[in-house]
Amino acid sequence: MKRKIRMGMVGGGPGSFIGGVHRAAARLDGQIELVCGAFSQDPAKSKAMAAELFLPKARCYDNYAQMFARERALPAGERMDFVTIATPNVTHFPIAMQALDCGFHVVCDKPITFSLAEARKLRDKVRKTRLLFCLTHNYSAYPMIRQAKALIAKGKLGKVRKIVAEYDLGWLAAANAGKQAVWRVDPKRSGVSACVGDIGTHAEHLIEFVTGLKITEVCADLSTFVIGRSLDDDGTVMLRFNNGARGFIAVSEVASGEENQFKIRIYGSEGSLEWHQMNPENLIYRSNTQAMRIYRRSWAEQEPGIAALTRLPAGHPEGFIEAFANIYTNFAKAVDARLERKAFKPDYPTVDEGVREMAFVETVVKNSRGSRKWSKLPA
Ligand code: NAI
Repeated sequence: MKRKIRMGMVGGGPGSFIGGVHRAAARLDGQIELVCGAFSQDPAKSKAMAAELFLPKARCYDNYAQMFARERALPAGERMDFVTIATPNVTHFPIAMQALDCGFHVVCDKPITFSLAEARKLRDKVRKTRLLFCLTHNYSAYPMIRQAKALIAKGKLGKVRKIVAEYDLGWLAAANAGKQAVWRVDPKRSGVSACVGDIGTHAEHLIEFVTGLKITEVCADLSTFVIGRSLDDDGTVMLRFNNGARGFIAVSEVASGEENQFKIRIYGSEGSLEWHQMNPENLIYRSNTQAMRIYRRSWAEQEPGIAALTRLPAGHPEGFIEAFANIYTNFAKAVDARLERKAFKPDYPTVDEGVREMAFVETVVKNSRGSRKWSKLPA
């Protein structure tokens, strides 16, 4: 790399949740620098954030339209290379479309858009502009998730038969759960689903990523437990896969006391794997013929490429930020390859996975509201 890759940011203003994670993850390996931002829809808050981050006043913008226009007018050696979008769901589409129209690569948080129709339009735009688009499904970049993917691909589990993913949170158990909760349960800002859109998408993405299988049909039962909410805060979705496997996703944001209890189990004809987000350095392998074993980050028997995803010696815990950083660092390499006109195979979730997740969300919601037992996911 000849220079750092320059990042701009929309969202991630004072008091926001994931914006700070994006910034920390982007700078972890020293290959990306934040150069500008429109951190809030309120210009005063955006300025306060920029001051906290020691950004020059001239690179703090009142809104994203102003940021894209002014950055585009800067000399090539100064302007941002890509923008990160860390705003509520309803705004992802207009911001991403405008960024691409102005010639900037995009990193966008999940769910990719408000609707499937928007996700498809965004995919068309990415294809047309040939710019890079990264969707931050960060769980797919944990070393032990990559280990699981590699083991499954080489047949360690035999034929995959059953997949179970659960994601339980307690933070929406009460009606008044704070600022971040307000937009998440508002259909005008969140989308057709709160819980499935927010965390079911992580489960759907991780299942398809790890197994390489595709969900073909769903049978869903979504619920709204907190009175006054119009979107789901809990749900169970049975799944059918393209190889005949079965499974389910169980998600809840009203599971009182749970933190980020995200786990996945994959059962094959020869063995099974289990991974827990809250204990991410362990990957448990079981079979009917051998003693249970635990693969650990930084120990022997790693599959190729896993070592490059870790930074600390064994026993010094790594986790959420590092997995997020793996996505950013790979994206930075992709941007660099573009600058150098070199070929590069992206190793991060793309707009195609975004279309899949929105197809999943909309099919699940429709199925849960209707009387059909099973609904097919649109192509
Ligand atoms: P938040 O409500 O904490 O922060 C949103 C930020 O965006 C605020 O600073 C707000 O002022 C700003 N904003 C809103 N509209 C804007 C606009 N038009 N221009 C500039 N700034 C604007 O939300 P949170 O929890 O940080 O979520 C943001 C996004 O990240 C959501 O799409 C969410 O689904 C996703 N997310 C992803 C996670 C992951 O693990 N990958 C975890 C948490 C959130």
